[in-house]
Amino acid sequence: MSLLEIYEISAYYVHNNSTTKAVDNVSFSVEENEIFGIAGESGCGKSTLVKTIYGFIEPPLYLDKGKIIYNFKDSNEINSVTKKNISSNWWKKISYIPQGSMNVLNPVRRIKKFFRNLWKAHSMNLSYEKYYNLVISHLHHLGLPADILEYYPHQLSGGMKQRVVIAAASLFHPELIVADEPTSALDVGVQLDVLRLLIKIQNEYKNTIIIVAHDMSVMANFCSRIAIMYAGNIVEVAETKALFKNPLHPYTKLLIDSLPKIGDIRELKAIPGSPPDLTSPPSGCKFHPRCHFAKNICIKEEPNLKKITIDHAVACHLLER
Ligand SMILES: Nc1ncnc2c1ncn2[C@@H]1O[C@H](COP(=O)(O)OP(=O)(O)OP(=O)(O)O)[C@@H](O)[C@H]1O
Ligand SMILES: [Mg+2]
Repeated sequence: MSLLEIYEISAYYVHNNSTTKAVDNVSFSVEENEIFGIAGESGCGKSTLVKTIYGFIEPPLYLDKGKIIYNFKDSNEINSVTKKNISSNWWKKISYIPQGSMNVLNPVRRIKKFFRNLWKAHSMNLSYEKYYNLVISHLHHLGLPADILEYYPHQLSGGMKQRVVIAAASLFHPELIVADEPTSALDVGVQLDVLRLLIKIQNEYKNTIIIVAHDMSVMANFCSRIAIMYAGNIVEVAETKALFKNPLHPYTKLLIDSLPKIGDIRELKAIPGSPPDLTSPPSGCKFHPRCHFAKNICIKEEPNLKKITIDHAVACHLLER
């Protein structure tokens, strides 16, 4: 059974005189125990989509339509994305590592205080002593020294701060962890270490992880499936190998061509043009102004995400017979 089923979600930022269609009619599902990647250029709606999944919907962000079903173990199906319904599951069943989360550690408080605040908000009826022991054994388990609890954030490297946030997100062994750009702003070697930590957590706790990145190469070795987002839509979802071997959407092909490849000394191809303004997105397929193969129908009709094989879906008129 899918852990997460997302049906026709639209989430918009509404300001006085403009509406940004950051997530527009998105449907997909995430299976139990998988690492699912969401990739796409900056501004395509990745963070908005994962915030919506977490139920973190606050003005100016509004849910325009759609529903999300969370099939957590030992609980009735939760059929909503409203904060009220989902927030009691935060940290315990679903954890969220927001973009730039290492910066949320308060610079004038020790890491210990960060964990203490977490206990105050979500203690699950544990005494502080028991909770503190849980934190220490969890840090040990993840290979992090317990003395980091005595440090201030500025005394830790970026990679270590990110590991602290990941340790907090996994403390109560949630069934779903949503990590928004957990490796951006880190050096390549540290990026790999942080990803390995997430994999270790996934292997041991058998939870499901959604990772957002704009660099697909980051996820190529770690994700079982990847969804490609463009201008608020999911344009392609596939099993990772199939996506790299046989990308079907012209945008996915360009994204893959723009990645550096080992041993290839040719100049990298940048994706021509720039993503559209989501306050007034193009008609039809939102990629048509940048697509070399656009036909009349692409300008007029928005393509739906359709399954091409059991593991591969794409939203492109060019693939329709
Ligand atoms: N508070 C806001 N008010 C209005 N528009 C917003 C707000 N936050 C984000 N947006 C817009 O929503 C769209 C999607 O933004 P989002 O942050 O979800 O993209 P992203 O794919 O996560 O980008 P990045 O890779 O840079 O993190 C963008 O056009 C962005 O400018
Ligand atoms: Mg983002």
